Amino acid sequence: VSANPPTSDVVVVGGGIIGLASAWRARLRGLSVTVLERRAIGEECASAVAAGMLAPVAEAEFGDAGRRLLELGLRSARLWPDFAAELEQATGAEVGLRRNGTLLVARDADEARELERQLRFRQSLGLQVRRLAPSAARELEPALAPTVRLGLEAPEDHSVDPRRVLAALRHACELSGVRLRERAPVARVEVGAGPRVTGVVLADGSRVPAAHVVLAAGAWTAEIDGVPAHARVPVRPVKGQILRLRDPDGPGLLRRVLRFEGGYLVPRGDGRYVLGATVEERGFEPHATAGGVYELLRDARELIPGILELQLEELSVGFRPSTPDNLPAIGRGTPSGLLWAAGHHRNGILLAPLTAQLIAHALTAPDRIEDRRASLPAELEGACDPLRFATAGGLPTADPPGPPVGVHS
Ligand code: GLY
Repeated sequence: VSANPPTSDVVVVGGGIIGLASAWRARLRGLSVTVLERRAIGEECASAVAAGMLAPVAEAEFGDAGRRLLELGLRSARLWPDFAAELEQATGAEVGLRRNGTLLVARDADEARELERQLRFRQSLGLQVRRLAPSAARELEPALAPTVRLGLEAPEDHSVDPRRVLAALRHACELSGVRLRERAPVARVEVGAGPRVTGVVLADGSRVPAAHVVLAAGAWTAEIDGVPAHARVPVRPVKGQILRLRDPDGPGLLRRVLRFEGGYLVPRGDGRYVLGATVEERGFEPHATAGGVYELLRDARELIPGILELQLEELSVGFRPSTPDNLPAIGRGTPSGLLWAAGHHRNGILLAPLTAQLIAHALTAPDRIEDRRASLPAELEGACDPLRFATAGGLPTADPPGPPVGVHS
């Protein structure tokens, strides 16, 4: 360990897709960037487990938080084609962006009624969706069971292969001069006079000095010490079990992403499929269960009977990083120099290009409010504000310390 390790402009804590994309974008703006990953890149992160749906329309939810997430998702979905192209151009690697759309399907009368409601909701928001009678749905996807009751097509909801994206981002980071350090778990953020961050301290006690620290450690973000309690973003793990399947006869069973109550099936286009996912509030409980696998296969089989012919390649467990309102924390926090790119819940792959853009922007134009707002309207910026969870006691205010001030939305 050097006595005087070099100071980076930016240390990014976390080498998942959010961390690497943010690091790459910051580097392209001329900053010196170090990424610290607690394991190896892709070894233990939600990015390596995720199915890779880019599906803001299919995921649209009722309510204020749902509307804001939809807005964020639509913006990031629009960035994806250029982001993927740039990544492919920089690295020569293909990231598996497939633009075949998504099909939501109902299995029975109850689900069909709910899908009709979901259709009206999306139409009321002006989203691109198309109602499909069972015969029309089966014309699009002949592998669907004859019992399917209703379909809804979201033609602009696509998918990408997150493992390919992760590998390409790693390569792009290396090519652009980002310093990647693996097996470098961060114990705490270091805060000096100001207060302002001065870097991080690793689990082995060594320091990595930096002018800015970006916390992008996924579900593990909350384990990093040193951030004052009142200014922390509460990130919790939400467990998901997910299966990877392969058709020995090659591609063709399914072209579009299929979504149904309780799961989704994402074709990779080469005969491989990802079937996900359970949503479990069990902390970091790491085990896959027979019950989880049973539920996924049972539901998917009702819609695509042919799925039982596929070979089982992999069963994995991932941990979504989720905040109390399930919206991400993106941008500047406190103390000065600390930024968050965390809490993306079910939407980390979708929101990666937008997050990276916002982080790079906040790092290079942190004091120009009009610049920061150029990329996100104030309402959305507020919805992602890392300080929305801050307690009154930690805010620069004359009010006495009190209970959480709640969500700025
Ligand atoms: N975005 C899908 C999931 O979290 O399972």
